[in-house]
Amino acid sequence: MGYKINLISDTVTKPTKGMLDAMMQAKVGDDVFNEDPTVRELEHRLAQMFSQEAGLFCPSGTMANQIAIKCHTQPMDELLCDVSYHVYQYEVAGYGFLSGLAINPLRSETGKLTLDLLQNEIKPDFDWLPRTKLLVLENSLNRAGGSVYSIDEIKPISNWCRSNQLKLHCDGARLFNALTATGDNALEYGKYFDSINICLSKGLGAPVGSVLLGSKIMIKEARRIRKALGGGMRQVGVLAAAGIYALDHHVARLSIDHEHAKMLEQALRQCEAVERINPVQTNIIIFHLKEEVSPNAFIEFLHKHNVHASMFGKRSVRFVTHLDIDKELILETMEVLKSWKPE
Ligand SMILES: Cc1ncc(COP(=O)(O)O)c(C=O)c1O
Repeated sequence: MGYKINLISDTVTKPTKGMLDAMMQAKVGDDVFNEDPTVRELEHRLAQMFSQEAGLFCPSGTMANQIAIKCHTQPMDELLCDVSYHVYQYEVAGYGFLSGLAINPLRSETGKLTLDLLQNEIKPDFDWLPRTKLLVLENSLNRAGGSVYSIDEIKPISNWCRSNQLKLHCDGARLFNALTATGDNALEYGKYFDSINICLSKGLGAPVGSVLLGSKIMIKEARRIRKALGGGMRQVGVLAAAGIYALDHHVARLSIDHEHAKMLEQALRQCEAVERINPVQTNIIIFHLKEEVSPNAFIEFLHKHNVHASMFGKRSVRFVTHLDIDKELILETMEVLKSWKPE
């Protein structure tokens, strides 16, 4: 609590003055009756941006992912993903609890799935096996250190899904970071997926909210599931207004967070505590400490110098750059890293 430089996640941002003003001025209605104009505007806008028919404002990325999973499957089906993905690691086995699914988490080296890895993973049609029905891709990849899938990598996977009757969902919690890094076009990107979850509360800096995109039929069902999960919200245009503000003001600036991440990567290269750093492509930096460095001592050292970061595995640390970290704070963090000395 209360560290000057908080690199623990891009979820820690506080709404800016401009965002708060937009929230104060939002036109609202009861969204359970589909009568909140600001929510409808946000849903419509994101759907159009990503070539999808409709959108659904959800309280969290986890709920948006879980609703998508439920829409695309029946109990006793199977979901494919990489072992590092959020849907497998951090959503409390919601695929089993909420959708009655089996999961097949594949082990890629980089977190990025390829046709080579996927090709033999569709289960044959036997009475005693689950049916493989859904593939989830995460973009950008959180646990892999913010690396990204490009459209060229997704295209063959999407074609393969379509020819094998698998649905394809994108956990795009940080999709705008990924598109900023690849330069890919959102309109084209969206065409390869049956559904997309876009978080507003990560790099985009809104206090809450995710939008699930999909076909009109899917989103109609998704509304019912959201209600069953207790995610139907009332005059929630005040929150959707923060999302619209973020689309207008915080997408174009994501490249600044990426530049800051590169600066930290440079400093980490010179930091004596660091063994290696995962390739940095967006706003996430994952680095690994040398054998002789105590992870606790390293984190304490950062804390002592007002830098907040988290362990990400036994000997790995994650930094995430974001809206509330300006260049000055990055330079200060670089100085802190430079000053690290073994005990
Ligand atoms: C890749 C990814 N997907 C989904 C989520 C879930 O978002 P939320 O925390 O809003 O449930 C996160 C959260 O950090 C995430 O990193």
